[in-house]
Amino acid sequence: MRYVALACIASTLTLANLDAASPAEVRGKAGMVASRSGLASEVGADVLRNGGNAIDAAVATGFALAVTYPSAGNIGGGGFMVIRLADGSVVTNDHRERAPGAAGHDMFLDDDGDVVDGLSTHSHLAVGVPGTVAGLLDVHERHGKLSRAQVMDPAIALAREGFLLDDDLVGQFRRHLPRLERYAASRAVFTKADGSPFAAGERFVQPDLAATLERVREAGHDGFYRGKTAELLAAEMQRGGGLITLEDLAAYQSVWREPIRGTYRGHEIVSMPPPSSGGVLLVQMLNMLEPHDLGGFGYGSAAVMHRMIEAERRAYADRAHHLGDTDFYPTPVATLIDKDYAAGRFANFDPTRASRSDDIGSGDVPNESPDTTHVSVMDAAGNAVAYTTTLNLSYGAKIVVPGAGFLLNNEMDDFAIKPNTPNAYGLLGDEANAIAPGKRMLSSMTPTIVLRDGEPLLVTGSPGGSTIITTVLQVVMNVVDHGMDLSDAVGKPRFHHQWKPDRVIVEPFGFSPDTIAALEAMGHQHIDAIRWGRGIGDANSVMRRDGELLGVSDPRGAGRAVGF
Ligand code: GLY
Repeated sequence: MRYVALACIASTLTLANLDAASPAEVRGKAGMVASRSGLASEVGADVLRNGGNAIDAAVATGFALAVTYPSAGNIGGGGFMVIRLADGSVVTNDHRERAPGAAGHDMFLDDDGDVVDGLSTHSHLAVGVPGTVAGLLDVHERHGKLSRAQVMDPAIALAREGFLLDDDLVGQFRRHLPRLERYAASRAVFTKADGSPFAAGERFVQPDLAATLERVREAGHDGFYRGKTAELLAAEMQRGGGLITLEDLAAYQSVWREPIRGTYRGHEIVSMPPPSSGGVLLVQMLNMLEPHDLGGFGYGSAAVMHRMIEAERRAYADRAHHLGDTDFYPTPVATLIDKDYAAGRFANFDPTRASRSDDIGSGDVPNESPDTTHVSVMDAAGNAVAYTTTLNLSYGAKIVVPGAGFLLNNEMDDFAIKPNTPNAYGLLGDEANAIAPGKRMLSSMTPTIVLRDGEPLLVTGSPGGSTIITTVLQVVMNVVDHGMDLSDAVGKPRFHHQWKPDRVIVEPFGFSPDTIAALEAMGHQHIDAIRWGRGIGDANSVMRRDGELLGVSDPRGAGRAVGF
């Protein structure tokens, strides 16, 4: 039952803090970093204090997360960064993993054409060619101000000297030990020398990871993609039956892509293009919702939720059919983010009745030619960075590269490994997202910057697999439609629909029984507050208001915003 794996992603996102209402906003004037790890946010804020810009800070925070938040922070995975530069331009960096050169369309199917359970999530074949190091280095080289050592040294120090574990990390290690322990190198990192689990307050030292980061600091791209690090990774692949070769590693490059741009009630939305579906779906859903007076209906009303669910249903249906790596498949991006297309998709919307996902296919579009974590950063100069990075499921494939100390992703599961077969998030896909050598698997990561009058207003993003996009949608709408301050916009309860399965996931105790009853009366299925039982998303966000920078870490996680 592949969909069960969703619980694994969500397991780091509890509702323990939700009853604390909205999280406190951290205020600053000169710089702000919000991430899932307080230690990593401090690294980013220190870089800003030392003269770095928001890009330096995001890169330093990214490397630090690989040390202090290993379930999703990574150098063995991939990510996307949306950067608004102080000169007003916006660029995006795609460092998504790629399928190895020897990958094949049906590599996760048996002789009968059936999916081999677990192969795309928990095996060496699940691993895509990592992109994070290439991306962070390229972003830093092109737009950073400080030296590579200045943005990497803090992460190296945290790995070499260690840091004290808190309850949050210790709990995560324990939950994932049964799978991590299958690999000797993973057990060596995530248990004590005698094999017993870590306890809170104990020091967590990662010397092999420190040495790998030092090789990257000294040699840049070659420090990871060639030489000792690459040889250790390729040897582990050979040992475990994986496909990644030295050639795959040497060939990896990050890609600079044009952002997805949309408008929403006088705001400009800039987000990530394919191979992420995030920006396309976010803009598509906002386009469908814009004609409706959502602010007038009010946050949490059945009228607003109904409209959002119906927008989500239609957008995720399009995702399943149309979206994939644009370098490999003709993805109709311009059409999907067009306001007229959205109006057509919503033409059969009924304000009184839920539609059925079985009746909602993908839209007709003409062919055109051709456990994740999020960091938000702003600086005083007007640079803003939205950075989302992932190993896919928590701790990825659970495989630490022996001698190199870092975890490998299991991102291959984000491909449509068989048409219309759900991935770990229940997402369906088709030929657009089929496996091909060198192709990037479709993502839901949605690092997003909202601009008002051309200036950054909000930087946001989230983990949560398929729920990433609807989490970002809700944070944006909470600010734009409902006029919330940042702490409410991030803290308020969330819900999610993704076309199939045809049901709404609602955070426990999030919405009134009256609202739920009204939605059920319209025909929405499985308004399930209790059984899913997890928080949705972890949207560490930064906002500018009245010349001040505000940072909020999502109360569903254990992160921290740091600013000054
Ligand atoms: N691995 C989750 C995503 O990229 O959407």
